[in-house]
Amino acid sequence: MAKLLAVNVGLPQDIAWHGRTVHTGVWKQPVTGPRMVRRLNIDGDGQGDLQGHGGEHRAVLVYQLDSYRYWQERLGRDDFVFGQFGENFTVDGLPDDEVCVGDRYRIGEATFEVTQPRVTCYRVGLRMGEPRMAALLVSHRRPGFYLRVLTEGRVEAGDEIVRIERGPQGMTVAEIDALLYLPGHSRERLARALLIPALSPGWQTSLRALLDQAATPAGAPAGNAGLVPATAAGPPAAWSGFRPLRVTRVDVESESVFSLTLEDPGGAALPAALPGQFLTLRMHPDGGPPLVRSYSLSGPPGAARYRLSVKREPHGAASGHLRAHVRAGDLLEFAAPRGAFTLEAGDNPVLLMSAGIGATPVLAMLYALAAERSTREVWWLYGARDGTEHPFAQESGALLARLPHAREHVCYSRPTAADRPGVDYQTHGRLSGGLLGRLGVPRGADVYLCGPSAFMTELPAALAEAGLAPGRIHTEVFGAGPASTPGLADVPARPVHLPAGPPGTGPAVTFARSGLTVPWDPDYASLLDLAEACDVPVRWSCRTGVCHSCESGLLSGGVGYAPEPVDAPADGNILICCSQPRDELVLDL
Ligand SMILES: Cc1cc2nc3c(=O)[nH]c(=O)nc-3n(C[C@H](O)[C@H](O)[C@H](O)COP(=O)(O)OP(=O)(O)OC[C@H]3O[C@@H](n4cnc5c(N)ncnc54)[C@H](O)[C@@H]3O)c2cc1C
Ligand code: FES
Repeated sequence: MAKLLAVNVGLPQDIAWHGRTVHTGVWKQPVTGPRMVRRLNIDGDGQGDLQGHGGEHRAVLVYQLDSYRYWQERLGRDDFVFGQFGENFTVDGLPDDEVCVGDRYRIGEATFEVTQPRVTCYRVGLRMGEPRMAALLVSHRRPGFYLRVLTEGRVEAGDEIVRIERGPQGMTVAEIDALLYLPGHSRERLARALLIPALSPGWQTSLRALLDQAATPAGAPAGNAGLVPATAAGPPAAWSGFRPLRVTRVDVESESVFSLTLEDPGGAALPAALPGQFLTLRMHPDGGPPLVRSYSLSGPPGAARYRLSVKREPHGAASGHLRAHVRAGDLLEFAAPRGAFTLEAGDNPVLLMSAGIGATPVLAMLYALAAERSTREVWWLYGARDGTEHPFAQESGALLARLPHAREHVCYSRPTAADRPGVDYQTHGRLSGGLLGRLGVPRGADVYLCGPSAFMTELPAALAEAGLAPGRIHTEVFGAGPASTPGLADVPARPVHLPAGPPGTGPAVTFARSGLTVPWDPDYASLLDLAEACDVPVRWSCRTGVCHSCESGLLSGGVGYAPEPVDAPADGNILICCSQPRDELVLDL
């Protein structure tokens, strides 16, 4: 009979780590006597970061005595205490390769259901003093698991654990964990796991993504679709590194926006890009560090040539150089079209919402919809300062005219006397929540949103308020994406900078979105460490090659891994938390 050996609780506390402060509840202490277990927590317990931990499906974490013994031997440790692995219940019995997701247990007065394996996060490594711990727990198939509380009640160390129901598909915690994190994602087993109602919604989503990936006609592409973050998703790049393309036209679109048309120098058709994708340009205008910038494709997707449109920024290094010096006939170097901000198929309405130069990716989407004479309801919602800064006005109008169910609404924030209300623009002001409400934008729409930072902060909230589902709001940011640094208590948003100390002697690493090139220094354990030293916004969770939160686009160059990732990232992506440059790199960060 399995037995509850210890009930461990702990409230979040601030822990110093690598010069930073982590707010974490991973330190748990065993308690004596009965403890009340409630729907969200055991009394006296808490989580520091409710995004990654806690909640109804992750109310109680369980770890087994047998795994304590295993790790004591493997890691040569004799200092373990109950709660060592951040768990709430230390148990004798209930091994991960026997307990099934969906199993139900009675412990003391309470009843529980197994919902998912442990979350892979660096904080267990922090608690253990072993940074690789999150990956070790997965690769050695000893993750432990979470319980949902079905009936609240008191539990106490020494209580017997009685199984009252078997999980419906007989799939163990170890198997479900391996299905997501380890290579070889069997379609049949994925489909089966998705039949377990008790499996937590987060895991359902990840396993469904893996199943969809396995079902694509070309077979399973490389990478882990269940884990890849949206920022690094998208089809594989059509070529690796940078290749020369010839500028064949330069067109003025507005006072500050101009377009470059690009063709293969040998006249070959260029690989088709998806509507919404971007190209990355690398230049060496003054022989110094490279200038690397990305530009969304603004022309018809699938054409043999590409068009991108650039806004000349005051004092902008790349836009200024392109405007002043680049002419038809010049060769420029580009990385292949990339990005997951792409138009999804469907019959529901589409809202293409942009402001300023943010029109470029949604214009490519409008081209795609017009090319297929889409019968979808298509809304073109655009904000500009005035008519002199309204690029693509004729072009978008002509495309909308080809669509049977198109609506257009243009806002000028500061129209000039020459701008005609009702003709050139409809609203004097900005695109706002109030305006969307008045226009009656359809609630079931897919929204594609791109514009300046204030627009990107305000509009998603306004759309959600207008009743549009957040999952249908797709955004493109013309710069570094948001950072995700789970549990860090004090992360000031600082501009990127060169790292402190003498420059490294290794190959140059370019963070393209942040516009920074830095020489590598082998004193850094990983590219993630280097990025952090420069305050480049990064995303991570396990920091040891298992969760894929740090998966990022590699535009050129090659990396080595130490430690090796548990499952490979998608082609053209890398895991920055465990990789080091082999040669010069350009990263989509
Ligand atoms: C996925 C993606 C897609 C993109 N698509 C497009 C697109 O379609 N079209 C487009 O134009 N851009 C696009 N961008 C943005 C583009 O990559 C560049 O970041 C942008 O054009 C600015 O580059 P820059 O070299 O001209 O300016 P930078 O030199 O990088 O300067 C950045 C900002 O700082 C300001 N600045 C610089 N120096 C000074 C100074 N001395 N004093 C005061 N201010 C200063 C500039 O005015 C500018 O606003 C995209 C970016 C991404 C990541
Ligand atoms: S942070 Fe988890 S794989 Fe890199």
